Amino acid sequence: MIPQRITQVFLYVCLFTLTLSAKVDRKFEIDNVKNCFLKDGEPFRYVAGCFHYFRAPHQYWTDRLTKLRAAGLNALQTYIEWGSHEPREGEYNFEGDLNITDFFEKAQEADLLVVLRIGPYACAERDFGGLPWWLLQYNVKLRSNDDIYMNYVEKWFNVLLPKIKPYLYKNGGPIITVQIENEYGAFGTCDFEYTSRLRDIVHSALGKDVILFTTDQPNHDGLRCAVIDQTLATIDFGIGQEPSKVFGVLRAHRASGPLVNSEFYPGWLDRWGEAHQKRSTSDVTYWLDKILAYNASVAFYMFYGGTSFGFNSGANFESGVYKPQITSYDYDSPMNEAGDTTDKYDAIKKVISKYLPVPEIEIKESSDKIKFGPVKLELTAAFPQLFTSSWKSKSATDPQAFEYLGARNGLVLYSTKIDFRPTSPSTLTMANLRDRAYIYVDKVYQGYVGRQEKSLVIPIRAKKGSILDIVVENQGRINYDQQIAEHKGIFGDVSLGSKVLKNWNHIYLEDWEDFVTKGYDLKVAGSLEEVKNLGQSLTPAVLKGQFTLAADVKPADTFLNPSNLTKGFVYLNGKCLGRYWPANGPQITLYVPGVWLKGYPESNELVVVELEDTPCLADGKCSINFDDTPQIDAPVPENF
Ligand SMILES: *[C@@H]1O[C@H](CO)[C@@H](O)[C@H](O)[C@H]1NC(C)=O
Ligand SMILES: *[C@@H]1O[C@H](CO)[C@@H](O)[C@H](O)[C@H]1NC(C)=O
Ligand SMILES: *[C@@H]1O[C@H](CO)[C@@H](O)[C@H](O)[C@H]1NC(C)=O
Repeated sequence: MIPQRITQVFLYVCLFTLTLSAKVDRKFEIDNVKNCFLKDGEPFRYVAGCFHYFRAPHQYWTDRLTKLRAAGLNALQTYIEWGSHEPREGEYNFEGDLNITDFFEKAQEADLLVVLRIGPYACAERDFGGLPWWLLQYNVKLRSNDDIYMNYVEKWFNVLLPKIKPYLYKNGGPIITVQIENEYGAFGTCDFEYTSRLRDIVHSALGKDVILFTTDQPNHDGLRCAVIDQTLATIDFGIGQEPSKVFGVLRAHRASGPLVNSEFYPGWLDRWGEAHQKRSTSDVTYWLDKILAYNASVAFYMFYGGTSFGFNSGANFESGVYKPQITSYDYDSPMNEAGDTTDKYDAIKKVISKYLPVPEIEIKESSDKIKFGPVKLELTAAFPQLFTSSWKSKSATDPQAFEYLGARNGLVLYSTKIDFRPTSPSTLTMANLRDRAYIYVDKVYQGYVGRQEKSLVIPIRAKKGSILDIVVENQGRINYDQQIAEHKGIFGDVSLGSKVLKNWNHIYLEDWEDFVTKGYDLKVAGSLEEVKNLGQSLTPAVLKGQFTLAADVKPADTFLNPSNLTKGFVYLNGKCLGRYWPANGPQITLYVPGVWLKGYPESNELVVVELEDTPCLADGKCSINFDDTPQIDAPVPENF
């Protein structure tokens, strides 16, 4: 008995000492001689996977994180999205799918360290690159040491950084490094006062011992504008780039420190009207192996892409062409949009296992999927009733941009009365339209013009006294390069023939995410016959469907198939699933997380806002199917 008791006491003391010392000694540092990270004094490198918490329901976070760890990754990399956390100036949201401290805790429970990219700018194919849209109400110089801009950044960081602090590695949490800005070198402004100021703000809030870093493309011009002292400089590059060569470019700007590829691309982003992007598994593993053999740390961008639900996907502007991104952020990543593992996942795991211990973790490789339908859709409101219920309105001499109205996303109706006698037809011109407009004269639909289609003029037949209505759709704010500063809506003159039209009224919702809960007045709904009798145009049309799952069907992941519709957005039980545009591809189906469905006997509600005329409306036979497989690789129109 006695010897045993002694052993027990001894063990207890040892464990106690261990726990205590673990708390005291948690340190994450850089060794500039060995050019590596030091974790608690030991050489360390990370193989991280990007997964943005704002692209998956929080109920699925643990599943996705566990799969990251099970592939052998030892870290998670994520952006923080300012625009989602501060959707209106001074109003903050950290609940549910935006609960970042919950996300950090779940990452730590999954045995992952966290590489945190706090911005303020992200890009990430999000609306406005993750910046809050309302910044565009001010005369700001974005991503610079401009006082107005920095005032908002500091206010935001004063809210954000105290939330991060307890989760730093030194404080017992999983966060090992913190990135400021993103690919700042590519922005072309070289404002060192800006990036140093960001660095100093973060250092003073989190401590100077926290490793801050920057990420840039491996070219000299960019790195010259991006590398600042007291921060680690990292680069991003994909398949086909020789590590020795690109890290050589980095070394010309930063002689020492661990080598990190902060974005290694196992896939790529998609845009409406362009073929789905894919990267071959063998290319990915070949180049991954090279990076790991080079002793570098690496982060997959993306390891799990997820979905840009709601109105959160953004757009590119390239060679004068506006290119909005799709709703799916599958990214051809190792875990697909529904969080299922793929062949790429297995192949990557094999490569990682050559370099890092891969834990034995049991995972469910794919979630259950269900299919059902068709769900019949009834027309419940059509243009113009949609815009006349209890919405906001504002009059102004000239058409106002969304931001100045206080409209975050979705649609704004611009109306004016034609007070002269136009020739018939006359050309309606909106040189600065952002991004797409549906045009009506005396409530009769004339057609649409679109920026992506590069058509900004349309002939219309109108009389003196006619009411011109223009429904403008925001297809997503630009998130890369200098064009990020663009406003949405009609920005500039609208002319009919040679005359500039004045005296506009605007009807809008502040946020279309709330359309079903706040903006959608069921009382204005009319039947298809009533709408037709009034001689109204049918689009934008609001369609509604109700369905109940069968008693023996459990809610599970499914894919909404809108291929009987043309273009719009759809809500399930009040949640906006995102934009659909099957006519344009490559995405057809919208991912529906099973946790957003209600099980038997509860009823589910589907609300669709269809923007273009669509054949099924004419006979009142619109329906939607739910499939058990995604379709995000459909053919796209030629020469769109
Ligand atoms: C975030 O999640 C944690 C649980 O991990 C919870 O305690 C906290 O209240 C949540 N915060 C918000 C704002 O909902
Ligand atoms: C990687 O590290 C190993 C072990 O320290 C070393 O032998 C090797 O030369 C390093 N490779 C490169 C490319 O630096
Ligand atoms: C399209 O509509 C037809 C006729 O209502 C229906 O049979 C079909 O299932 C629908 N397809 C989809 C993908 O919803």
